[in-house]
Amino acid sequence: MSSIGRSVIASSPGRVNLIGEHIDYNDGWVLPFAIRERTTVTITVIEDQVLRMQSKQQGDLITLPIHKVKPENRRGDWSDYVTGTIWSLSNTPGTGDRLRVGLEIEVDGRVPLGAGLSSSAALECSVAFALNHLFDLGLNLAALARAAQRGENEYVGMPCGIMDQAVSLMAKRGNALLLDCVDLSTRDVPFDLTPDGLEILVIDTMAHHELVDGGYKERRDTCYRTLRQLNIASMRHLDLKQLELVADSLDSVGFRRVRHAVTEISRVHEMVTALETRDFQRVGAILDASHASLRDDYEVSCAELDLAVDIAKESGALGARMVGGGFGGSAIALIESRKVSTAEAAITAAFGNHGFTAPRFFIATAEEGSRLEKF
Ligand code: GLA
Repeated sequence: MSSIGRSVIASSPGRVNLIGEHIDYNDGWVLPFAIRERTTVTITVIEDQVLRMQSKQQGDLITLPIHKVKPENRRGDWSDYVTGTIWSLSNTPGTGDRLRVGLEIEVDGRVPLGAGLSSSAALECSVAFALNHLFDLGLNLAALARAAQRGENEYVGMPCGIMDQAVSLMAKRGNALLLDCVDLSTRDVPFDLTPDGLEILVIDTMAHHELVDGGYKERRDTCYRTLRQLNIASMRHLDLKQLELVADSLDSVGFRRVRHAVTEISRVHEMVTALETRDFQRVGAILDASHASLRDDYEVSCAELDLAVDIAKESGALGARMVGGGFGGSAIALIESRKVSTAEAAITAAFGNHGFTAPRFFIATAEEGSRLEKF
C-alpha cells in the first residue's frame, strides 16, 4: 500500500544541563533536564524522490534528491541536522529501505539558536522521533539518540557526545535525567523548585567565540590521550586520589583536563543526593565548584560567562555556572524567584559596562522529552 500523503507531527525540547559538563564523551554520568522551548517537525511522505525542507525561522526551501543524502553533500546549514538524521537512521540496522522515500519536512524551531540550549539536538530528535513513528521503525529511545548523535558526528561533523540527544528524547516533566553515558541507562531525579521559591535563571550571554568547534574536539582529544598515557580504559575508573598520585607523570594541561572530568563526575552524584535531600545550599555550592573547574581546569569559559556567573552570585544566587560546550552560550543561576528581576537588571548593566552585547534571560523548568503532536 502506498504511504504517499501519510504524515506525522512530532516535537523535541532543548535542554539545560544541571551538572556533568564535558562528561558525556568522558564516559561518566550527566544530569540534564529538558526545557519548555521545543522544535516541532511536520513530516509528510511525497511522491517526488527528494527531501523538501523548510524552516519557519530560516525561510529558504531546500530540496535534496534522496540519492544525494550523503555526508559529502552536506550544505553547512540547518538542513544538515535533518538530512544527517535521515542518513544515520537509514544506515541503522533493521530500518531497511523504508527511509528511502521522498519527504516534505517543515520545521518550527523554537529553541533559541546559539544559546547553548541544544537547538540542534532538538531538531535531530524531532526528526528521528517522527520517522520512527511514521515508518514503524521500532527503535527505542536509546537507539534513536545514538542515531541522532551519529548523524551529528558523521554527517554534520561535530564530535558531540550523547547527552543532548538522550535528554531531548528521554526527559520526563518535573525531573532531571540522570544518564549513564556508557549504557544509556537512566534514572529520573525529581526536580521541581517551585515549593522552595527558587528558579533556574538561564542567562544567554549572546557570545559565541571562534574556539567553539576546535576547542571542543581539542578538549576531548586531550582527555583521551591522557587516559591512554595512564593506561586507564575509562574516566569512570579514576578518582581524584589516584589521579593526584600520578600527577607528576602528566603534563599540566592533561592533568587539569582530567581533574575537571573526575571531579565533575563526583559532583553529578553529589548533586543527586543534594536534590533528593532538597539541600539547595549544597546544590548552589556544587554549581559554583563546577564553574570554577570549567573555568580554571577545563578552560572552556569566557569573559561573558564569568561575568554572568559573578554578578548572579552578587545578586543573591545560591550558585551559578556556565552550561553546555562553553566559549559562549548560556550560564545558569539557582536563585530565589523574588530576586530574579534584580539579578537580570544587574547582569544587563554589568554587560553594558563591559561593552558586551545585552544578554537574554529565560526561566528553565523541567519539561517533557520528545512526543508526537499529531499522527
Ligand atoms: C555540547 C555537546 C554535548 C556535551 C556538552 C558539554 O553540548 O553537544 O555532547 O559534550 O557540549 O557537556
